[in-house]
Amino acid sequence: MSTQAPLLRGLVALVIVAAVAALIVALTWRAAAPRIAENQRLLEQQQLAEVLPDVDFDNRLTEARLSLEGAAARTAGVDTAWIARRGIEPLGVILRAVAPDGYSGRIVLLLGVTQGGEVLGVRALEHRETPGLGDAIDIERSDWIRQFTGRSLDEPARADWTIRRDGGAFDGITGATITSRAVIRAVERALLYFEREGAALMHTPIPTDVDAPSDTSQSVEFSEPRP
Ligand SMILES: Cc1cc2nc3c(=O)[nH]c(=O)nc-3n(C[C@H](O)[C@H](O)[C@H](O)COP(=O)(O)O)c2cc1C
Repeated sequence: MSTQAPLLRGLVALVIVAAVAALIVALTWRAAAPRIAENQRLLEQQQLAEVLPDVDFDNRLTEARLSLEGAAARTAGVDTAWIARRGIEPLGVILRAVAPDGYSGRIVLLLGVTQGGEVLGVRALEHRETPGLGDAIDIERSDWIRQFTGRSLDEPARADWTIRRDGGAFDGITGATITSRAVIRAVERALLYFEREGAALMHTPIPTDVDAPSDTSQSVEFSEPRP
C-alpha cells in the first residue's frame, strides 16, 4: 500500500497539470477566436475586392454571399456569388468558378463581372498546377490572368474563346496548354451562366449586411439549362 501512494500522487498531479493546460489552451483559443474570424473576413473581403477594381460599392462583400445551386450552376461550374452594391443598387457580381480540368486537378477562380457582363478581374484562388509551368495563372507569378480584364462573351466572339494556337484570341502559357485551356473554358462558362442568370442574381434579396452575423449566406437555385 505504502509503495503505491507516491505513484498515485504522481498520477493525480499529472491529471491536474493536463487539465490546467487544456483549460489554458481552451481559454486562449476562445479569446483569439473573434480576432481570427475578423482576420479571415478581411482577407476574404480583400480577395473579393481585387476582382472588382474601381467599383464603388459600399457593402460588405463577405456578407453579400449567395450559394448557387441547381443544374445551371453545376453545369457552369459556379458555386458562389457575391453581390457588390452601392446602397441598394447592384453594381457587379463576383463568381467563384471551378475549372475541373486543370493539369493537376481543380482550379478555383474568382471572377468579377459588371452588370453588363464585362470581366473586371480574374484571380486563381486555389490550384495545384506545376511551379514554373501552370502556376503562371497566379498573379504573383505572371500577368497572364490579366488578359481576361475587359473581355465579355461578345469580345472576343464566342468562337475565339480559346488560346491562339487553337485559333482563339487568348495567349496560352508556354508549356502549360492544358492549364491555359482549362482556365479560359471556366471563365467562358461562368460568363455564360452570368448572361442567363445575372439579372435574377443581382436582384436576389440578401439580408442587411451592416453588423449582420457572419454567416448570412443564402442558397439560390436558378433555372434549369435551356437546350
Ligand atoms: C512534370 C511536368 C509538369 C507539367 N505541368 C504542367 C502544368 O502545370 N500545366 C500544363 O498545362 N501542362 C503541364 N505539363 C505539360 C503537359 O504535359 C503538356 O505537355 C503541356 O500542357 C503542353 O501541351 P501541348 O504539348 O499540347 O502544347 C507538365 C509536364 C510535365 C512533364
